[in-house]
Parts: sequence; structure tokens; C-alpha cells
Amino acid sequence: MCGIIGYTGNKNVTSVILKGLKNLEYRGYDSAGIAVLDNKKIFISKFKGRISDLENSLKKIKIKSQIGLGHTRWATHGEPSKKNAHPHTDCFGKIALVHNGIIENHDKLRKELKEKGCKFKSETDTEVIAHLISKFYKKSLRKALIKTLKKLKGSYALAIINTDNPEKLLTARCDSPLIIGKGKNENFIASDAPAILEHTKKVIYLKDYQVAEISKNKVEVFNFKNKKIPYKVNTLAYDKESAEKKGYKHYMLKEIYEQPKILSTLFAQYLTPSGRTKFTNLNLKRDFLKNIKKITIVACGTAYHAGLVGKYIIESLTDIPVEVDLSSEFRYRNPIIKKKSLFIAISQSGETADTLAAIRKIKQHNVKILSICNVLGSSLTRESNSIIYTHAGPEIGVASTKAYTAQLMVLYLLTLHLATLKNILDKTKLKKIISSLKKIPHLQKQILRNDKKIKNIAKRHLHFGAFLYLGRNINFPTALEGALKLKEISYIPAEGYAAGEMKHGPIALIDEYRAVVCIANNSLIYEKMVSNIREILARRGKIVVIATKGNKNIKKYVKEIIYIPKIENLFSPLLVTVTLQLFAYYIAQIKGYDVDKPRNLAKSVTVE
Ligand code: F6R
Repeated sequence: MCGIIGYTGNKNVTSVILKGLKNLEYRGYDSAGIAVLDNKKIFISKFKGRISDLENSLKKIKIKSQIGLGHTRWATHGEPSKKNAHPHTDCFGKIALVHNGIIENHDKLRKELKEKGCKFKSETDTEVIAHLISKFYKKSLRKALIKTLKKLKGSYALAIINTDNPEKLLTARCDSPLIIGKGKNENFIASDAPAILEHTKKVIYLKDYQVAEISKNKVEVFNFKNKKIPYKVNTLAYDKESAEKKGYKHYMLKEIYEQPKILSTLFAQYLTPSGRTKFTNLNLKRDFLKNIKKITIVACGTAYHAGLVGKYIIESLTDIPVEVDLSSEFRYRNPIIKKKSLFIAISQSGETADTLAAIRKIKQHNVKILSICNVLGSSLTRESNSIIYTHAGPEIGVASTKAYTAQLMVLYLLTLHLATLKNILDKTKLKKIISSLKKIPHLQKQILRNDKKIKNIAKRHLHFGAFLYLGRNINFPTALEGALKLKEISYIPAEGYAAGEMKHGPIALIDEYRAVVCIANNSLIYEKMVSNIREILARRGKIVVIATKGNKNIKKYVKEIIYIPKIENLFSPLLVTVTLQLFAYYIAQIKGYDVDKPRNLAKSVTVE
């Protein structure tokens, strides 16, 4: 939530910042702003709306600067408006800063600062930081910043400029993502890699309670005792192209199409040529893995749905019971945590505040945490005992697609790993499963080739005011995920339900105005789905069915059929999901919505 960028170097500062902001716009997009230092004065421009508005306003202005910062906002305190947009300044206009996070004690601080004469210009929690630094500032801005940070409760990633130190950017973080990019005669601050990939792949992951001072040729990191500390420079695995649209109308579509390739990458990463699983960096003892008595999975949103599918996979191939919890619920309940438990956190970004809070809670119980994550070096990966990367590349579309199927594939492979260690799977069965999994990328491509048909079905259904998604067994979570995709990007109310629950309530919703997406692929419970379909038809609900290729019987009941290739039910979520992603995408796209930046959403939810 909120994207921040800072730059110091010889390039055109405004264009580096604007471009960086555009690549961070997925993090929040209700207002944007920029501050640059020009001739020892701070020039600020900010706008309600998209970065393109800010860009247009800056075209007319000539600025000569070597240092500046920018922000794209997802409002928490104060409505989206010009006055609430970042950067914010102190009373004298000598300090400007951008912030991602929430200052929980800002009310109290604001009151105290007002009593001391500070004039506030916005309703944001952020503005207190600028005034506090100004209050503490005597000779060293860094010392003033550290004093300020010690007063704050909450989360922050900050970038700061100051007229007395026109060559230096200051930055600090606590519970909000932040990286420092190291270039040649230039350095960067950013919330996330896409903002700086074009310029450098060398990054420093600033840790919580660290402050950095950055000039174009130097980066120095300090702790809260104002003591200089060493840091590590990492190399990002992404290339610039992986964060570009490559001719697709939207990132979301590009990311849907990337899925077969990502799954193949995961095979290369986590399978040996002879078809055994290899998780070389698992960092968990074999003995521990062999004797796991319970797995608890925590995650939010789409990643939570992956966890739910994970429960079906793990429980059907191992003897380990699995509990899946929403991170936001887990963190405030009293979980029963027993020895020999493994705790799995799933997250695309690795920065989701609730998931981080959940693992911090579990850490107090001395339980091992394995994270399944897409973003290298993210907070989640730094705080876990063990990491499995999903290798999906940067996911820019706000609605998660490729990260989800990559999470599923990791869960399949991890399950096989555990089952093999526990001697539950014999060689023949393992071989058979791996052979089925290896077919998936090819089968997903078949679905993608069929996308015109899905688009046409979408066209015929976009006028429906509400959708119900029904699935059973391993495709119950798929129904939840399909409904989530549709509501996120098309704003049509959509509810996912376990089909067996239909008679316990949702059937009351069904009439000729309700569209129902039924997942009825070949499986042991296929006939049960058919019964549900007949019940919906009897109430004149309009059905779109996902069925397995070759199923002619279904035509007796339903006209609108999306066929998926034949696959065992256990692996079908990897195919059904792709059809539902395309279905949601085309409904939103044809309706003319900004698919990559749905209203009110932000890509990584770094506040509670
Ligand atoms: C839905 C979506 C969100 C995320 C959720 C968790 O399309 O993107 O529901 O899945 O916010 O985010 P991560 O996976 O980054 O923890």
C-alpha cells in the first residue's frame, strides 16, 4: 500500500521518479506527488488521481535537480485529495518526506505538536513525522530522525529530503517494505523492485529499525543508536522485461498467460531429472519433516485460497492433518499449538501485515515457519525459518493470478516431498503424480488457446448483477477464488460457495437474474454437482459450467460450457482457475474497467 521512491544521481530526477512511480502504481493510486530539491529549495507537486495527471503538470516546469522523492498513495488517514497527497513538509518547508505505513499514535503526537505551535496542512498521520523531525533537528538530521522514530508507534517506510543537506536522502523502515538500489553514481530508495529495475539490480534490504543516509556515491546504514552498521548488497533475479506488459492489453492478461512457463520453471527448480523432489534450501531437518504431526497454514485473500487447496492436497497424499486460517483471524485467536507442528505462511508479496503478524505470534511458541513466497528478500522470507520461492516473477496486476497457481504447484511438490520422506508414497504412485503434474503447463496452454470462447461467454454474462460460484471438494476453494477475481476487477457481487451448502441458504438467491458458475469437472462427486445444476435450473438460474472435455452428458442441461482438458480431480484447480481468471478478466475488460488497478485495492496490504 502506497509506493515510495527516492533518487539521487545525474539523471533527470523528475523523469526517474515519475517512471518509478508508474511502476509502483499497483501499490496505490488515488493520488500522487513528487518533491525535488532545486537550488536549496524544495519544489513540490501533488495531485489527486493518477500519476499521468502529475506528469502532465510537470511538463510545463523546468527543474534542475539531482535529488528527489515521489509517492503514490492508497489513502488510510484522510480522503484522497491534493492536500492529503504526499510529500508532506514541516512548517518551514525545509523537510519533505513520503511515507508508506500507518502511525498509530499520530492523534496524540498531532495534539502535542499543535500545542507547540505546529500548523498542520493535511489530515494524514504522516505529517506528524515531518513536524517531529523539524522539532528535534539541531545539527544532524539523522539524529533528529532517529529521535522521531523512537516516538512513533506503527509502521513506516520513509524517504526524506532536506534543504540543509541537499545531497542526501534519508530513509528508515519498520514493518513496511523498503529497498535501497545501488547504481553507478546514483542511488535509489523504493518500496519494491519494479521501480528501479531499469537502473540497477543491486539492492540493500533495509531492516526494521534501521536508518540510511544516501548520496549519489555512498550508502551508509545506521541503527537506532546512531551507530554505523555493515550491510549486504544483493542482486535481484528479475530483469526489466519481466515487469513490462510486452504487448498485452493489461498486466493481468500477461500474467495469466505466463502461468504455463512458471509451472515449468518450478519443475526445474524443485524436481530432479529423475523426478524426485528437491528442496535443497528447506533448512528444516529431515527428522522433523518426517515426524510432522500437524500443519497450520495462514494467508490472506487469494493466498488463503491457495492454502485451502493445500489442505486437500496434503491431506489426500500424507497423513498430516492441516488447518488453514486467515492471518487476520489467526493473529487474534488463541490457537492450540502443539510440538512437531509445521507452520506455513503463504504470500505473494511477503509484506502482508496480517500474515507477518501471524508468524510473529507463532514464533513466540518456538514453532518452525516455512514461507511460500514470491518476493525475494521480503519481510516474510527474512523472518521465516525456511522459504520456498514461487518464482512467478513480478506480479503487477493487482488481482493475483500467476502467483496463485505457482503457490498451488509449490504445495503439490512440497506434499510429494513430505509424503516421500514419510514413506507414504511408493515410487509408482509418485511417478504417476509427477507425470500428471508435468502435463499441466501443456494443458493450461490449451485453455489459453480457447480464450476467445471464454471471452464470448463472458460477453453474454456481463450484464448479470450478481454471480454465485459453486464447487465441491478441492474445487470449493477454486470457486472462492473465481468469485474473488470477478468481484475485485468487475465490481459485480460474486459469492463462492461449497455446492453442498447451496440448500442451506444460497439457493434463496437463485432466480433468472442470477448467474451461477458451476465447477463440474470429472470427479467422484461429479453427479452431486449435476444434482446442484438441476436444482439451479429448476429455479431458472443462468448457469455457466466448467466441465471436462468429452463430457457430452452435461449438454443436456447447460448451453454455456467451458471445457477443460482431462486431468485427475486432484490437479484440476490448476486448470479450472485459469478459465475463471480469463472469465473474470474479460467481463471487467469489456465493461471498460481498469483491470490492473481496481478501485479501492492495492497490491500489497502492508497495513492491518
Ligand atoms: C486478490 C489478491 C489479494 C491477495 C492478498 C494477500 O487477487 O491479490 O487477495 O492475495 O492481499 O496478498 P499476499 O499474497 O501478497 O500476502
